[in-house]
Amino acid sequence: MELRTVRATQYVTALREGGSLPAIIEADDLGMYVLKFRGAGQGPLALVAELVAGEIGRALGLDVPELVFVEVDAALGRNEPDREIRDLLKASVGLNVGLDYLPGSTMFDPAAGDKADAATASLAVWFDAFVANVDRTPRNANLLNWHRELYFIDHGAALYYHHDWETMLEKAKSPFRESRNHILLPWARSLDQADEKAHGLLGSEFFEEVLEAVPDKWLLRENDGLAAGEKRHIYLDFLLRRLKASSKFVEEAKRARAEFV
Ligand SMILES: Nc1ncnc2c1ncn2[C@@H]1O[C@H](COP(=O)(O)OP(=O)(O)O)[C@@H](O)[C@H]1O
Ligand SMILES: [Mg+2]
Repeated sequence: MELRTVRATQYVTALREGGSLPAIIEADDLGMYVLKFRGAGQGPLALVAELVAGEIGRALGLDVPELVFVEVDAALGRNEPDREIRDLLKASVGLNVGLDYLPGSTMFDPAAGDKADAATASLAVWFDAFVANVDRTPRNANLLNWHRELYFIDHGAALYYHHDWETMLEKAKSPFRESRNHILLPWARSLDQADEKAHGLLGSEFFEEVLEAVPDKWLLRENDGLAAGEKRHIYLDFLLRRLKASSKFVEEAKRARAEFV
């Protein structure tokens, strides 16, 4: 998988909605991107999740803004008046993740009458359960309306089992009870079809390709003694086991849905 790499040329503005203080930046290709910083409090694994989960979502046919690597150099934001932003930029010199910026997009909001079709909603519930993403709730939708399509953003909290390598594989069969809070669950009438579709689209070859794109440095941590390749193996094993056990989380989502529909 070939992700483009761009260089940030201008810090435009901070996005203070979520917790990680991403920013809109302009890059040397004159594009605008939402930059997710490697030096943010969530650590580099949040970028691993952003990339791996984001590309899985795309492979499933969901709209995810293009993901790119963004090179940040020391000069960027040197004159930012905000100390927090300067520190964040300093801690993020080097590679980061950027998402194509969708100008004029608005957050999906059922209270304002926004709806989703059954196929998209079901695939989305399947996807978020598969990657264990808890950040798709009515309070925090991370779902953008843009040009009449739904765009899926913010996968930094996905794959949270990777914060503990030793137990990650045991979690592969988790039913993921958090599906009950999924913002699109009310429309997810065709979870079995989503499951079938997902099995046709995902597999080891694709997972390996995505994992290969993750920079080694983001996978390495002091003190755990594991090489980047060994970690990729754990992810691959996790994803394959989870795919095989998908009926666990599909049944759980169906059960949660039956409770309130
Ligand atoms: N690609 C994008 N295009 C337009 N706006 C975006 C994009 N990505 C994020 N945003 C806006 O920035 C906010 C914060 O980004 P997000 O990735 O959700 O980070 P956080 O981890 O801080 O929640 C989002 O809630 C959304 O309003
Ligand atoms: Mg968010």
